[in-house]
Amino acid sequence: MTPVAPLSRRSPTHQRWTLDDIPWQSLDRSLIADQELLFYLLTTASFIETATDTYAHNLIEYYAGDEEVTAWLEQHWQHEELQHGCALKRYVQTAWPDFDWDQVYQAFFAEFSAHCVIEALEPSRCLEMLSRCIVEMGTASYYSTLSRLSPEPVLHLLTQLIREDEVRHYKYFYHYFLRYRERENLGRWKIFRTILRRLHMIDGEDSSIALKHAYGIRHSNASFDNRLYRIIQKRGRYLMGPQFPHAMSVKMTLKPLGLNPRVQKTVAPMIAFLSRYLLWGEGSMRIKSYDRMLMDFYTRLRVYALNQWARFAG
Ligand SMILES: [Fe+2]
Ligand SMILES: [Fe+2]
Repeated sequence: MTPVAPLSRRSPTHQRWTLDDIPWQSLDRSLIADQELLFYLLTTASFIETATDTYAHNLIEYYAGDEEVTAWLEQHWQHEELQHGCALKRYVQTAWPDFDWDQVYQAFFAEFSAHCVIEALEPSRCLEMLSRCIVEMGTASYYSTLSRLSPEPVLHLLTQLIREDEVRHYKYFYHYFLRYRERENLGRWKIFRTILRRLHMIDGEDSSIALKHAYGIRHSNASFDNRLYRIIQKRGRYLMGPQFPHAMSVKMTLKPLGLNPRVQKTVAPMIAFLSRYLLWGEGSMRIKSYDRMLMDFYTRLRVYALNQWARFAG
């Protein structure tokens, strides 16, 4: 893959990049046009990012009175998320020119917008900030994976830029989460339960609606049901699993729990290991049975324990 020229970065107080910074003329369709799975991954992302303003409106209303948060949401976050949608839309339209993006998006939005109601937000401002952290962790991991597996240089650059934005969004939401946590005095158990619930929602209804519309236009005779969604989702996981940034996503997920650094250092690699095997199916490509997986896990645990013992003994 021939890399495209790096961007000259703008001032951190301004937008870091615009659509004009992407070398669209260098996009090599021959490297991506027949990759149906990538088409779905990018189209669904472009739909959900483009629909951000509906959600942003609810979020701004929810934090009314907190000038700093609403100003950041309105002037930076919303604007950058919408730019992600525009850039991904342009990529999809250039790579797959037969796909009528606008028409399919309209059908998607009609169904999607019904789910975007203020009642869908968390019951407290602190928990909503936490929820946003998990969403940004999910998108940062998603674009990081796409950037690593992209066979096409322009897509590699674009997803890398979006990933950097998502990581920055996470940092802002985390900063505001800490501030609200002090005010609301939430316990770790409540935070943990919210993280689990939010993780469960990633890859949920939004993605299913987006995929249904993107798939329907390519397979007009096939009916899209939950079974088909799971099959495509599984194929996506097999494609993405080997490139997924497990360590980064686990670190970002655990951070709001404020664990003791030593505890975090112990549990993070184990969760990353389980995520690699159980969630992303990477293990099933390398090992054939759960016995082998448990042996593998046990071996790693033993090596880790020995290393810890050597550190303290030495
Ligand atoms: Fe985004
Ligand atoms: Fe974001």
